[in-house]
Amino acid sequence: MASPLQPVEPLFLPKHVASLTEVEAKARMGRLAEALAHHSRLYHELGKPEIEDRTYDLLYRELELLEERFPAHASPESPTGKVGGQAVAALQPYTHSQRMLSLANAFTHDDLRAWEARRAEDGRLTGGLRQHLARDDGPPVDELTYAVEPKLDGLAIELVYEDGRLTAAGTRGDGHTGEDVTHNLKTVSNVPKTLQPPFPSYVSVRGEVLFTLAGFEAMNTRREAEGMARFKNPRNAAAGTIRQLDPAVAGRRPLVFFAHSAGRGLEDVGSHQQLMRRLETLGLETTGLGVGCADIEQVIEAIEALGAGRDSLPYEIDGAVVKVDSHELQGRLGMVTRSPRWAIAFKYPAPTVTTRLVQVDFSVGRTGVVTPVAVMQPVQVGGVTVTHATLHNEHQLLRKPEYLGGLRPGDLVFVKRAGDVIPRVEAVQDEPDRGSRPLARFPDGCPECQTPLVREENETSPEKVLIRCPNHLTCPAQLRAGLRHYVSRGAMDVDGLGEKLIDQLVEQGWVKRPSDLYRLTVDRLTRLERMGHKSATNLVAALNRSKNQPLARTLVALGIPEVGEATARDLARNLRSLDAVKNATVEDLKSIPQIGDAVARSIHAFFADAMHQAELDLLRAHGVLFPPEPEEEPREATASPLAGQTFVLTGTLPTLGRAEAKARIEAAGGKTTSAVSQRTSCLVAGDKAGSKLTKAQSLGVPVIDEEALLALLAGTTPTR
Ligand code: IVH
Repeated sequence: MASPLQPVEPLFLPKHVASLTEVEAKARMGRLAEALAHHSRLYHELGKPEIEDRTYDLLYRELELLEERFPAHASPESPTGKVGGQAVAALQPYTHSQRMLSLANAFTHDDLRAWEARRAEDGRLTGGLRQHLARDDGPPVDELTYAVEPKLDGLAIELVYEDGRLTAAGTRGDGHTGEDVTHNLKTVSNVPKTLQPPFPSYVSVRGEVLFTLAGFEAMNTRREAEGMARFKNPRNAAAGTIRQLDPAVAGRRPLVFFAHSAGRGLEDVGSHQQLMRRLETLGLETTGLGVGCADIEQVIEAIEALGAGRDSLPYEIDGAVVKVDSHELQGRLGMVTRSPRWAIAFKYPAPTVTTRLVQVDFSVGRTGVVTPVAVMQPVQVGGVTVTHATLHNEHQLLRKPEYLGGLRPGDLVFVKRAGDVIPRVEAVQDEPDRGSRPLARFPDGCPECQTPLVREENETSPEKVLIRCPNHLTCPAQLRAGLRHYVSRGAMDVDGLGEKLIDQLVEQGWVKRPSDLYRLTVDRLTRLERMGHKSATNLVAALNRSKNQPLARTLVALGIPEVGEATARDLARNLRSLDAVKNATVEDLKSIPQIGDAVARSIHAFFADAMHQAELDLLRAHGVLFPPEPEEEPREATASPLAGQTFVLTGTLPTLGRAEAKARIEAAGGKTTSAVSQRTSCLVAGDKAGSKLTKAQSLGVPVIDEEALLALLAGTTPTR
């Protein structure tokens, strides 16, 4: 049986989430919820995941973001409120003894120094900590110390002991209320069920629950032996395990708990380091790796030492936590938004690993552009197994200095995976025998249809050279990519037509262009492998439904170069019919706000092409309606849609110059600054975005592209 759900592709999140209309968002939210529930069941209950953990996480995040934007459409059944394949409704809410906070992040040593300096500015302490203590009635100067310890990459948990007995355990949730997971924490081997006396009558302890790397490996080995799929990522596996309803599941998995802070009940303890010792005497395990530091320079040394030993730790850490040691001082420093002023997390740079390049594949996209892809021996990086990395283009493949004259299969390569971005091959190791290995070169012919490839030089930026398969008519790779695009969610949105099925339809020769999809019949489809009558009937029905998709979606589906969802909506809104778009001159198109010269020319050229005209006629003949957009209540026009928001621009934007982008943001009430910080609302990233992008990703600052920026700016005009 084919999978009942068409694969849902994760989209470029912030851009996508910002650009959807309410109606589109509602539909997408339904699809995401359905797909997530399905994949969660495959993962947790059947142990047979069909998608990468990362893909799942991206879909999950997308749903979370959409629910934030349109809370009214969040379903009570949404998987964001569900865990481990079981409804959370079955897990009880857990109220924290005291709010569970998060930590601000530092990425550089100077961030840490600035953090210390800021303590002086917060109005509670004047002249810096040291001066304050020397001057005030606080503890003597030599007590001003910091504690540095690993930041554990686990799941935050609060444990409650009453009269020395473990009575409750909860996940962090929103910091006030989490989920009651007492039944599962009771199975964690190093969580004491009873405390060593003497103990306070009530104590709440916080820490992280996680898999040690050895435990994780042993569990995976056992799962494999039992015919179950391996877990890919220790943190996700820990989170999934802790939220299971049946404690027997957690009981079989080697979780551990390390305490790192307290909620209530240990107020008599004077410092963080004393607290760690006290927790140990009560019988709780800490990492034991915390060190005291007399000043911020020592803190930096300790962080470096911890980072240097990171690979030999028995568990994954994603940084170091620096805490002001004195509890009295912690109390006076207090907190800001969700983080205490007395602690900060230092994030280590994304891990780099080495592996061997097996080969360079060349993948052909919808428009024929050929992209080199590094295929590597599988390697774990940041808890995820990596086998592929994009190499972007020929220039990078052959001329990137770190690639030492070009990649050669067999090369020892350094691979980095930063946050949620696609892995990158950072550099190649020079080895004495390297020269004897042949260079990976672009093929002369299309890897798929053998048509000679064409180079499109870019005189101003040679690194932007494109190599294309010019056989737009019959190249099967372009056809497959084009069909995937045609049926995708943002386009004709055809359920039940996944990648594998498209491959089969192309291979059979049944589909040579999108309009051929509408010639498929139930009879014919059931001749395909693993295609039952029901799936075939559903697919034909879904194809028929797609004929009514509004004009904007059809314009997206056609794959007009330079036309994404936002531009398609602008076209549909302004021109209102396919014929009007088709017959528009370049000047007509340019008169539409947001459509510049390059986009106008591209649209015009597309419709001038006889092959495209013939395909449009065929689509119409099959009953595709291109209905104009339904008129909607115009939204309240906002004069300053970006008021209060701060933007940073980076890289080359495809159509807007930096100056124009800046001017338009400012005209819409926004601000622009040059450096990314936690106060940045959004990073607008163009081509060749560099360190600002990395910084924004690590800070969790939303990243959008030019198109999404234009959509945000368009908030000034009524939108559909
Ligand atoms: S102290 C207010 N210490 O990181 C500070 N947290 O990003 C309370 N974490 O919510 C936490 N290792 O779940 C602290 N050694 C450590 C930690 C740690 C990991 C987690 C914790 C916290 C999150 C913040």
